[in-house]
Amino acid sequence: MNEVPPLLDQVTAAIATAIGRARPELAGADPVVSRSEHADFQSNSALSLAKRVGTSPRELAVEVRDAVDTALCEGTALSGPGFLNITVSDHAVWQQISARLASPRLGMGTPELGRRTVVDYSAPNIAKEMHVGHLRTTIIGDSLARVLGFLGAEVIRQNHLGDWGTQFGMLIQYLDEHPSATSTLDEMYRAARAEFEADAAFADRSRTRVVALQSGEPDTVARWREIVAESEKAFRVIYDRLGVLLTPEDSVGESFYNPLLAETVAALKDAGIAVESEGAVVIFSAEVTGPDGKPVPLMLRKRDGGFGYDTTDLATIRYRIRVLRADRLLYVTDSRQALHFRLIFEAARRAGWLTEEIEAAHVPYGTVLGSDGRPFKTRAGGTVRLMDLLDDAVARARAVVAEKNPGLEPAELDRIAEEAGIGAVKYADLSTSRIKDYTFDVDRMVALAGNTGVYLQYAHARISSILRNAGDADPVIDATVPLTAAERALALELDAYANTLIDVSQTLEPHRLCGYLYALARAFTTFYEVCPVLKAPNPVRGNRLALCHLTARTLGHGLGLLGIAAPTRM
Ligand code: ARG
Repeated sequence: MNEVPPLLDQVTAAIATAIGRARPELAGADPVVSRSEHADFQSNSALSLAKRVGTSPRELAVEVRDAVDTALCEGTALSGPGFLNITVSDHAVWQQISARLASPRLGMGTPELGRRTVVDYSAPNIAKEMHVGHLRTTIIGDSLARVLGFLGAEVIRQNHLGDWGTQFGMLIQYLDEHPSATSTLDEMYRAARAEFEADAAFADRSRTRVVALQSGEPDTVARWREIVAESEKAFRVIYDRLGVLLTPEDSVGESFYNPLLAETVAALKDAGIAVESEGAVVIFSAEVTGPDGKPVPLMLRKRDGGFGYDTTDLATIRYRIRVLRADRLLYVTDSRQALHFRLIFEAARRAGWLTEEIEAAHVPYGTVLGSDGRPFKTRAGGTVRLMDLLDDAVARARAVVAEKNPGLEPAELDRIAEEAGIGAVKYADLSTSRIKDYTFDVDRMVALAGNTGVYLQYAHARISSILRNAGDADPVIDATVPLTAAERALALELDAYANTLIDVSQTLEPHRLCGYLYALARAFTTFYEVCPVLKAPNPVRGNRLALCHLTARTLGHGLGLLGIAAPTRM
């Protein structure tokens, strides 16, 4: 589907060909091409390859330079001990821009095509309020689902809700005994827990209620369903506000696997992987030992016969592999669950479910910190309600937008403030290196300058306004016009979008896309400072408008893959 190979790939292929031409015995060697500060690209291959053919790196570099296709690599210069600095022809650069503009997918291919990818993300716990800890998994998981889906993967989103467990016996019992309680589920959950701990008789009645729930007693099950439905409604409000892809169909919570737990444990016992230990059934890791030097266990069945989080995840991975037929399994949770997933993957591998062809990965992320450097809490020490936090971000974004553009109609200001505020929260989360902790600082998030969502949205809106003022129909590129330095830098950045997305799909790190978009916006700013667009005579004007167009589309598209709106006016 008119995929446009990036210049980096084209140059890599050209240098590979040149190496093979110069020295046939080196055919197939890696030409080690990357972006360069001294030219468009550089190849460092001669340094490592020269020895293989008994010559010096400089000598080999000269041979490669003389063999290279000059229609693409117009200038290839030797530098240092044997580097090649490569400058692509102006014509080839313009052709890239024009081909990307002509493509509805910006010339991007579908390297993930047919790869069935489960993305497990969000997964809040029923009857507990979703808090800032669930923000990261929801935002990161959603962006990964978008990027992988765009690249052709068949993404199966799974919201592994914490909707099952002994705590529901307690909660249902409490609701039955306090029929007129009107507080939120979250508050009642805490009250039930307090009563459970203080009152042994209530604890006993709660345990009986767990048995009733597990054996499918109709009244108890109906009660449980109500609780789940009410919680899900509250989650849905947050999802809608955040604009994430998750739908009710994606909710496949822990309870879904309940009927599969016994057979999962039996299969693992039959395979000799799970063993009885002190009345419980466990799997001892063959790879990980605890501080005591003993193998770390996964708990499959507790001594009282109950199943837990570990068992559920074993049934889950088995289901995702055998029934969903996934090729790739991603679990987006905080880094504290690293050991859990390591043990789950090990067990699934030993059981023969997880084979070489299937990739399973924990996609961990760091903690959200408050300004005091400790996990983010309210002044009173409670968890921060997600809705309050989003309201706050939107209010501050509103002030920033209103100050910058006082002429906005109130309704438009409201809409833009919402897009900027929510975008700012998401961007702040996505733009820090995933595994690092980050500090939740609303003022910095909505700042107009620096690597923020608002900065990128403004860049997009500004270019949109240039295009509106131009009023031209589709721009026409004249590929014979020489490129200025700023045009070239912007064009090469635009062309690098494809490889950035592939990089994100492999590393599962959305901050690489953020970093790319920020670099692109800055390349545009430099370009716009030194290259008049509307006042330039044709064909220069047309070419520059084409760069503006492609920049706006790339920024808008990239923000879209981060799940962030790209308003055309701000
Ligand atoms: N509900 C869990 C939590 O809040 C996250 C579940 C992640 N997914 C999984 N398959 N274990 O920590």
